[in-house]
Amino acid sequence: MLELEHVWKSYRIGALGSKRLTAVRDVSFQIAPGEVLSVVGESGSGKTTIGKMVLQLASVTRGTIRLDGADVTARGHRERKAYYRRVQGVFQDPFSSYNPIFKADRVLETVRESYFPRTGRGEWNEKVENSLQAVRLDPGSVLGKYPHQLSGGQLQRMLIARALLLDIEVLVADEIISMLDASTRIDVLNLLGELKERGLGVLFITHDLSLANYISERVVIMRHGAVVETGATGTVFGDPRHPYSRNLLASVPQLHRKWSDDPATPQELEPDGDRSVDPPPLTRVGEQHWVAAHP
Ligand SMILES: Nc1ncnc2c1ncn2[C@@H]1O[C@H](COP(=O)(O)OP(=O)(O)O)[C@@H](O)[C@H]1O
Ligand SMILES: [Mg+2]
Repeated sequence: MLELEHVWKSYRIGALGSKRLTAVRDVSFQIAPGEVLSVVGESGSGKTTIGKMVLQLASVTRGTIRLDGADVTARGHRERKAYYRRVQGVFQDPFSSYNPIFKADRVLETVRESYFPRTGRGEWNEKVENSLQAVRLDPGSVLGKYPHQLSGGQLQRMLIARALLLDIEVLVADEIISMLDASTRIDVLNLLGELKERGLGVLFITHDLSLANYISERVVIMRHGAVVETGATGTVFGDPRHPYSRNLLASVPQLHRKWSDDPATPQELEPDGDRSVDPPPLTRVGEQHWVAAHP
């Protein structure tokens, strides 16, 4: 179980870090094994920052992140390594996770070096083949290739194969579908479904509400770094209560509507708020439904 409790993140910005930008404000949620939780919201709402904090790529300014009850923030090298055995991330741009001068499958080999140094070559090769097959990659066509010889979808699936080699418990998936072509999209979505069946918890970060609706049991809607509405996906999307959520859902293109009928974008409707203040509290409005106070 991954838990975020009252998590805040502020970045120093401007010359000499003279100003602060609060990217995440008082965010709390849990992800149970075998559960997909979507974090949605427009660009700049703090989604990636949450993923980075979970992956310990950004420090937590205030609050706690726990994995099975143990605080995971601010720990030493050994604990970090043990943590990455259990929690891994895949990002929007898979190319950034590969070093162009090495063969792509080096990301798999480094798992052996760091975590399974005593596993024999034969056994390891078998493990690699199994994990590649699990993400529907043909070992023969991806092993020994350089990153530029593979597609974005192949590189992304190799990163998921890497996570499988580690037999992780939580996957942070940040906009991983957005850059894929339509045919690969459905493969990766189905793959996530299978991982979920295996008991993996997934933090699914997306600006695409239809993807969130398709893949997750629960959803967190973010705006200006804070949670505006959260709960069971069907409940929240079926009966959004916060004006921001309503606008966001209304701006999803629908098949029966012409593009020209689309309402104004949320950015136009909602100017940037004051990010430094405490966000309004969440009120329970249904069995699995919470909404931030709003005018
Ligand atoms: N390293 C950073 N330094 C300063 N500001 C940052 C940094 N990373 C993100 N931000 C700011 O934090 C806010 C949230 O960004 P981000 O988490 O990337 O949002 P999202 O993923 O929802 O688009 C944005 O205003 C962004 O400009
Ligand atoms: Mg982002």
